[in-house]
Amino acid sequence: MTKLMFVQSSPRSTESKSIELAQVYLDALRVENPNLEIDRIDLWEADLPVFDGDKAAAKLNAILGSDQDAIQQTAWDQIVGIANRFISADRYLFAVPMWNGGVPYRLKQYIDIIHQPGLLFGLKPETGYFGLLANKHATLVLTSGAFAPSFPSPAFGVDHHSTYLRT
Ligand SMILES: Cc1cc2nc3c(=O)[nH]c(=O)nc-3n(C[C@H](O)[C@H](O)[C@H](O)COP(=O)(O)O)c2cc1C
Repeated sequence: MTKLMFVQSSPRSTESKSIELAQVYLDALRVENPNLEIDRIDLWEADLPVFDGDKAAAKLNAILGSDQDAIQQTAWDQIVGIANRFISADRYLFAVPMWNGGVPYRLKQYIDIIHQPGLLFGLKPETGYFGLLANKHATLVLTSGAFAPSFPSPAFGVDHHSTYLRT
């Protein structure tokens, strides 16, 4: 069975255009794939821990292969739990409004938590970063109020939104 994770990053719930558009896409997808398993995460309701100094230290230890102390290990275990839920999906549907040229901070916080060495990426000193998720598919549903790719930039804003998410 295919598992799709629906990542909602607008706090506007039933008023949200990005969630509404993504839901239309999802409804059509479910007609074609009736067995699709949906894991919905509302990033404004989810219990996301702050990415603090202990978590940053745990991440750096993981990159460098250094031992974690007890506090860092707890921070790392929390990271792994949240990342594993993400990793367990086969495909992703992201609903993301543009906020100040970029993404809402709850999504950035989520990415900072899950984007970890040995879980989502690896790093080789000779060749650089490489992704660890294979055979996954992601769909982006992006909304903005003033910005549009065809409008003059920077007058109508600069796109750090789609560029960041595609990366
Ligand atoms: C805090 C905030 C910042 C925003 N920043 C921008 C922006 O930089 N550029 C833009 O075109 N629209 C901006 N908007 C408008 C939203 O991107 C737009 O209304 C979007 O459709 C909202 O999506 P939603 O209905 O899913 O919440 C901003 C809205 C909010 C609430």
